[in-house]
Amino acid sequence: MRSTPRPGAVSSTVRRGLVAAAVLALGSTAAVATATSASAAVACNVNYSASEWQGGMSVNLTIQNLGDALNGWTLTFSFPNSGQHVSQGWSGNWSQSGSNVTVTAMDWNKSMPSGSSTSIGFNGTWSGSNPTPTSFKINGVTCNGATQSPSPSPSPSASPSASPSASPSASPSASPSASPSASPSASPSASPSASPSPSPSPSVTPSPGVHVDNPYVGATGYVNPDWSRSASNEPGGSRVANLSTAVWLDRIAAISSGSAGNNAMGLRDHLDEAVRQDAANGSAPLTIQVVVYDLPNRDCSALASNGELKIAQNGLARYKAEFIDVIAGIMADPKYSNLRIVTIIEPDSLPNLITNVNAFAACQEAQSSGAYVQGVQYALNKLHAIRNVYTYVDAAHHAWLGWDNNFSPMVNLFHQMATGTTAGVNSIDGFIVNTANFSATIEPHFTINTMVNGQSVRQSKWVDWNWYVDEQSFAVGLRNALVAKGFPNTLGMLIDTSRNGWGGSARPTAASTSTNVDTFVNQSRIDRRIHAGNWCNQSGAGLGERPTAAPAAGLDAYVWIKPPGESDGSSSQIPNDEGKGFDRMCDPTYTGNSLNGNNMSGALSGAPVSGHWFSAQFQQLMQNAYPPLS
Ligand code: GLC
Repeated sequence: MRSTPRPGAVSSTVRRGLVAAAVLALGSTAAVATATSASAAVACNVNYSASEWQGGMSVNLTIQNLGDALNGWTLTFSFPNSGQHVSQGWSGNWSQSGSNVTVTAMDWNKSMPSGSSTSIGFNGTWSGSNPTPTSFKINGVTCNGATQSPSPSPSPSASPSASPSASPSASPSASPSASPSASPSASPSASPSASPSPSPSPSVTPSPGVHVDNPYVGATGYVNPDWSRSASNEPGGSRVANLSTAVWLDRIAAISSGSAGNNAMGLRDHLDEAVRQDAANGSAPLTIQVVVYDLPNRDCSALASNGELKIAQNGLARYKAEFIDVIAGIMADPKYSNLRIVTIIEPDSLPNLITNVNAFAACQEAQSSGAYVQGVQYALNKLHAIRNVYTYVDAAHHAWLGWDNNFSPMVNLFHQMATGTTAGVNSIDGFIVNTANFSATIEPHFTINTMVNGQSVRQSKWVDWNWYVDEQSFAVGLRNALVAKGFPNTLGMLIDTSRNGWGGSARPTAASTSTNVDTFVNQSRIDRRIHAGNWCNQSGAGLGERPTAAPAAGLDAYVWIKPPGESDGSSSQIPNDEGKGFDRMCDPTYTGNSLNGNNMSGALSGAPVSGHWFSAQFQQLMQNAYPPLS
């Protein structure tokens, strides 16, 4: 299926530079102002906060609307130096002519009520020097220099501490995004539009169920009979066949019963069966996990899990009407109101907008059309409105988003996206990391702060300047940044641990004693992949931590979302009618590309198309389980 890591737009040279230069932490603020003309409806404040390194920069801008409501905006500013260039922008349509930069709003952030804020940003390059632009205009009206609003301080309040990467030794949780004070939108006094509206979407009948903070606590997990049968048909499979795995709604037909493949039961069949398991289980409530996975242009940076809907063929409208509405309609049935229904929303989609827009036309289209953001917002509006449904949005994994240049923009996009839903940030119960991926939950023999002979493990080829070495530290770091940005403190993280155990004979039992940082990391890490960017049917992987509620602070659960034994993609081209392509990252003979450091793919041979049963992989996963199977 998925989990294309693709640090993507950020080349490893740039990532290295981020730290090698110890980053000049240019956090500056071009502060404030309001329009001078009495009749002007536009009054604005733009905060420009840059991290820079030799030749490169990553800049976040926060636009604050201090005037009348805007429906559509254009931001303009000029770089003081002709060597300054935008190379990749986000959350707006960016263009540059000479030194003049123009950004127009996206569909999803063009409406700015009075008092609201929106965050945008770009990665760029510079030569010579990299001065901060001094003047910003919204719709032609200058934002800085004037007087009027109650709070504005006209002096640029540079805040280097807002720049995460200032110190290479900063702890991971300190590394991500700007401090809340640097971002007006994070402040509680932010706009009315950011504040949640309690009214549920009218087209879904509110069901009577209750909504708890962590749906996993005290609950039994639903056993998917379709997966359980495949697992127990395997020699030794009965040892895990009674564990809870997710139901994947990966196409419109999967909602109804009788669809082909491993998954013969439809959504109603599963929910009926869940009610039956719940009744048979005594008084504990039952949690059933459903993956909502059919956005138009799905899997836009890879091929193995391409789907049935295309943006250019009315895919977003079909997604809403034929997929989300139908799912929400079924879940809202009062006979399911005692179930805790966990939804996993659209693996990989929003992360693809952060790193893969430049290189992949399908991602570009997903961004420029707004289809991914609007599709996820629509799903959240419908699903959150059902009281016993819980929403967890996919947040990729540490080897995709763990670099500053990806992390901060991702936090901003999640926040922007959420504030555009009916219930605002409250429409999201949590986020999930490592869905269908193989990154270790915890690397037991080193952390991001480990030094080897005076060198940080971050300098090793394997870690490659990432701020995280495993999924649990990433999940906690991401949660901290999201809460700082304005998400509620109840936010809970999930980690998909179905295939990240890395046990078996190749598992290191202690930290290496090598004084070479690369050797140390390679000998110490339990993640035995050739490269952390490899994602398809990884050879040597094992079943990970069994599903566990509340395993650590900030985590709602370890969960098994990818059903172990279901392929990530075929090892060679296999014709099929599911829209699935052939991705060379699933071909064991493939020698890779820049996204996995030109390494071998590490994929097992003999794999069927994604989602189909792959017996040899299931056997290896059991053999290399950690904790081991008894
Ligand atoms: C992949 C497949 C999908 C399947 C899922 C779970 O994403 O594309 O069809 O349901 O994995 O195995």
